Amino acid sequence: MLSLRLKTIENLVEHGKIIADIGTDHALLPVELVLSGKVKKAYAVDNKNGPFLRAQQYIKASGCETLIEATLSDGLSSVAEDADCWIIAGMGYETATQILDQRPQVQANQQLIIQINHGVDDLRKYLMNNKWQIIDERIVYDAHYYQIIKAIRVDSVVRLRTEDIEYGPMLRKEKSSVFTEYWQFQMQKLKKIVNQLDRGSKRAQQLQKQINSIKNMLNG
Ligand SMILES: C[S@@+](CC[C@H](N)C(=O)[O-])C[C@H]1O[C@@H](n2cnc3c(N)ncnc32)[C@H](O)[C@@H]1O
Repeated sequence: MLSLRLKTIENLVEHGKIIADIGTDHALLPVELVLSGKVKKAYAVDNKNGPFLRAQQYIKASGCETLIEATLSDGLSSVAEDADCWIIAGMGYETATQILDQRPQVQANQQLIIQINHGVDDLRKYLMNNKWQIIDERIVYDAHYYQIIKAIRVDSVVRLRTEDIEYGPMLRKEKSSVFTEYWQFQMQKLKKIVNQLDRGSKRAQQLQKQINSIKNMLNG
């Protein structure tokens, strides 16, 4: 049974795709996608022995060896060209973007489903600057808040507004209850910090600006 975070990622995968799950760990996602018949084939990649062996065992125990190729390798380095949907989840910004940087030449319409644990605004900026257009976004609460982005490779940069980078072009328009809850939670955290600072300090003013921006966005 997948967690809500992984289930949400699974739901964003389109029927008939060939996925490459980079940093697969147990290979939960590829196995689920293959068993449900949603994907034709999958690559399950991990660069560490423990997770790679766990993935291999789970794939075998699930009877999916013919449709899932498990590899012990770094990022996208060994992923075949036929993988038209890359999944990168559960990592930090640096690792995730280093993996993407391994493949500067990306075929048109390549899909990417990406979830990082922190720095989602930086990730949106990175995606924009590297010709990934965001085509779907989700936010879920699964012990923590997670934002999941689906993007497609395009020919030229599609500019995002500052508020799109900060809050997500789709998420900020949709304003789901989880999204509102998340930003109210962030706002409370910022308010607590401001209350401990000298009101006139530069830091307090910066944080107050952030609080106002969140308030305006939620009320907009
Ligand atoms: C926290 S787990 C996430 C597992 C799964 N993707 C998820 O979202 O639940 C991160 C995994 O990424 C792997 N990893 C980290 N850097 C990697 C890289 N450059 N290439 C392949 N795998 C990597 C780690 O070994 C680990 O198994």
